[in-house]
Amino acid sequence: MNDVNTMSRPAERTLSPQSAYSAAAQKWLDRRPQLFIDGEWVDSRHDETLAVVDPSNGREIARIVDASNDDVDRAVAAARTAFDDGRWTGLPPIARESMIHALADQIHKNADLFAELEAIDNGKPRTVAAALDVPAAAGMLHYMAGWATKIGGDQIDPMTAPSGAFHAYVRREPVGVAAQIVPWNFPLLMATLKIAPALAAGCCVILKPAEQTSLTALLLADMVAAAGFPPGVVNVITGNGHTAGDRLVRHRDVDKVAFTGSTEIGKVINRAATDTLKNVTLELGGKSPVLVLPDVDIEATASGAANAIFFNAGQVCVAGSRLYAHKDIFDKLVEGVANAAQGWKVGPSLAADTKMGPLVSDEQHRRVLDYIDQGKKAGASVVTGGEAIGPEGYYVTPTVLVDVNPEMSVVREEIFGPVVVAQRFDDLDEVARQANDSDFGLAASVWTRDISAMHKMCAKLRAGTVWGNCHMMIDPALPFGGFKQSGLGREQARQGVEAYTELKSVIIAL
Ligand code: NAI
Ligand code: MG
Repeated sequence: MNDVNTMSRPAERTLSPQSAYSAAAQKWLDRRPQLFIDGEWVDSRHDETLAVVDPSNGREIARIVDASNDDVDRAVAAARTAFDDGRWTGLPPIARESMIHALADQIHKNADLFAELEAIDNGKPRTVAAALDVPAAAGMLHYMAGWATKIGGDQIDPMTAPSGAFHAYVRREPVGVAAQIVPWNFPLLMATLKIAPALAAGCCVILKPAEQTSLTALLLADMVAAAGFPPGVVNVITGNGHTAGDRLVRHRDVDKVAFTGSTEIGKVINRAATDTLKNVTLELGGKSPVLVLPDVDIEATASGAANAIFFNAGQVCVAGSRLYAHKDIFDKLVEGVANAAQGWKVGPSLAADTKMGPLVSDEQHRRVLDYIDQGKKAGASVVTGGEAIGPEGYYVTPTVLVDVNPEMSVVREEIFGPVVVAQRFDDLDEVARQANDSDFGLAASVWTRDISAMHKMCAKLRAGTVWGNCHMMIDPALPFGGFKQSGLGREQARQGVEAYTELKSVIIAL
């Protein structure tokens, strides 16, 4: 894969260097690697650390703890004790609600530092982190905070007893201690998406951010302390997935595992959690189709289709990575997407005019370039992009591939980069079948003004979210999750909070 990398790095295309970090960000990066356990910053009980790399130039900028088994056990013990003694669950719901709002307020207060650290760590443009990731993270907390005071049970009469002989009701109780493992594409947003419903439900959590992007989860721990949460309610530990993550998933004192990441690791986690029959929620990969019918406004739709794949450099679980356009408009639409791609200015994450930053890591950079290479070898043509840009950092140009067929890896597998494959269709039933011919079922979008065709297609597509004339509109009030191998369970909305609860039937003879 080394060859792919050097071969496709044209010497003539180079980018400006990454900007200097602010004093506040540098101060944060200079902190000693520690874990947040039981309300305190603590040292690891061994010396292993992991590098923090700025993907805009590939340089190591800090170290984080690679938590040991012993560290994981300490974090679980803290969460277990906090849950069992009722210091969180036992509070009046309004106190929990207020504290979750206070955490959101802390994020707003420190928004600039969050946005800069997210950009430095993940590679996404700081402007995007500031406009989107950080406010959305606070918004998720605000939305979920409200559920703390609104979760309720049910009352029902047993069918076999005379009315009035029993008082029977169903209590909704917190599931207990939750281990939450998140990926690197939206580090802060994923962290709050995980902790917010758990806290609203009354659970105590151990959050493990991705080893590539742990900085904003660690900053979030500072905010947890500032917001006044009781110790042990939120614990943040950094470390590798196959060690620290695996230890969490198998731990006897963890009741629930919530994971977002690759389908491959989702399956590993589901298997590992089976030994102790944990409650599991999985939000996994996708290969989401974008279906364009012949009646659309081509320019506007091309721009929407480009956003669907190029946003966050394509490192989005719902990225619109398979474009299906009706044969009458295929050429024009593909040309439109390729033109729109030119507007996605690639550059370092802290530059004000960058629209697409680097990919998150050297590993991801190689994966994406390797996929492009596999596609080309299998006969795909590159309409635009398909290249790395130097001289440093993990950049790939926005890429449109045509002449693809359903057997190619670029059509079947999740690339998780700015690469869209475009195919033409004639008939709506045929395109629905093609769109559904995937192991994934996370999301899809349909673009048309024909309201009847719109609703018919929305019903036919096997995906957890289907958008009409938009893509990637994700909102905390609507359930989110996948069909097929894109996941298990739903996050967000009422269902997202209920995923952190158990039901208890109480039946009292009167
Ligand atoms: P990954 O799925 O391996 O990592 C996600 C998280 O899982 C990280 O926090 C990691 O530490 C943890 N983890 C890894 N192995 C674990 C284990 N055995 N037990 C417990 N936790 C574990 O994703 P990775 O390797 O970073 O990326 C590989 C591919 O996965 C990407 O190219 C992309 O296709 C896909 N991916 C999909 C995401 C999505 O949101 N759908 C997010 C991230 C990656
Ligand atoms: Mg992995």
